[in-house]
Amino acid sequence: MAQTHFGYQTVEEAEKARHVRGVFDSVASRYDIMNDVLSMGMHRVWKAYTVGVAAIQPGMRVLDIAGGTGDLARAFAARVGEQGCVVLTDINEAMLRTGRDRLLDDGLVIPTAACDAEHMPFADGSFDLASVAFGLRNMTHKEAALAEMCRVLRPGGRLLVLEFSRPAPLLQKPYDFYSFKLMPLLGRLIAKDAASYRYLAESIRMHPDQATLKGLMKDAGFGHVDVHNMAGGIVALHVGIKC
Ligand SMILES: C[S@@+](CC[C@H](N)C(=O)[O-])C[C@H]1O[C@@H](n2cnc3c(N)ncnc32)[C@H](O)[C@@H]1O
Repeated sequence: MAQTHFGYQTVEEAEKARHVRGVFDSVASRYDIMNDVLSMGMHRVWKAYTVGVAAIQPGMRVLDIAGGTGDLARAFAARVGEQGCVVLTDINEAMLRTGRDRLLDDGLVIPTAACDAEHMPFADGSFDLASVAFGLRNMTHKEAALAEMCRVLRPGGRLLVLEFSRPAPLLQKPYDFYSFKLMPLLGRLIAKDAASYRYLAESIRMHPDQATLKGLMKDAGFGHVDVHNMAGGIVALHVGIKC
C-alpha cells in the first residue's frame, strides 16, 4: 500500500485522512481562539488580504473549501449579494458544525457540504471563485485536490490558496523555535493538546514551498498563477486562473 506523510510520521495513504480528522475533531471547539493566540491575530490580516484579492462582485458563485469555522465564507457572503451564493465545505463535521453555528449566530444561512476536497459533489464549472485557506497541506493527494478545484471552476475562474509556506532564510531559526517549542506548549496550556499543535508545525514543514506549489497548480490546469508572500513568506497566497 502507498505511503504518505502525516507531519513527520510516515503513514499509509488510506490512514492519513483519519489522522487529520482526529486532529480537527480534537481542536474544533478551541480552533478560533487558538488561531488568534498562535498567529497573534495575524490570520485575520492574511484572510482580509485574501478577501481583498478575491475582489468578490455581487452575483458571484463562491466555494470555500476546507472552510472550517467559516472566516472566509462569512466575508464572501457579505459581498456576493442576494443574486450570488457562497458554499462552505469541509471534510470534518465538527469543524463544519462549529462554522455553521457561528454563521447562524451572525444571521447568515450558508449552504454547507461535508466533503473531501479530492471528490466534491459539484458539477464542472459551477463556481466563479474557490478558496482554500490553511487546508491544502492536510490533504492526502494535493495534485488530485487541485485538479478537482480546477474542475469545479468555470473557465476564467480563480482559485485562491492561502497556506503556510517557506519563510525568508533570516526568519527560519526564530520561526523554528516558535513552531516547535512555543506552539506545542501553548497548545498544551490552552487547548490541552500539544500533539495537534506539533502536527501543525510538522505539516507546515512538509508542505511544498512557493515555487513547488505554483508548479502543482499549473499542472492541475491553472494556466496563470501569481504568488503573494506575506509575513516574509511564512504565509503565501497563490492565485490561479483556470485558462
Ligand atoms: C487549519 S483548518 C482551516 C480552516 C479555515 N479554512 C481557516 O482558514 O480558518 C484546516 C481545515 O481543512 C480541513 N480538511 C483537511 N483535509 C481536508 C480534505 N481532504 N478535504 C476537505 N477539507 C479538509 C480540516 O477538516 C480543517 O477544517
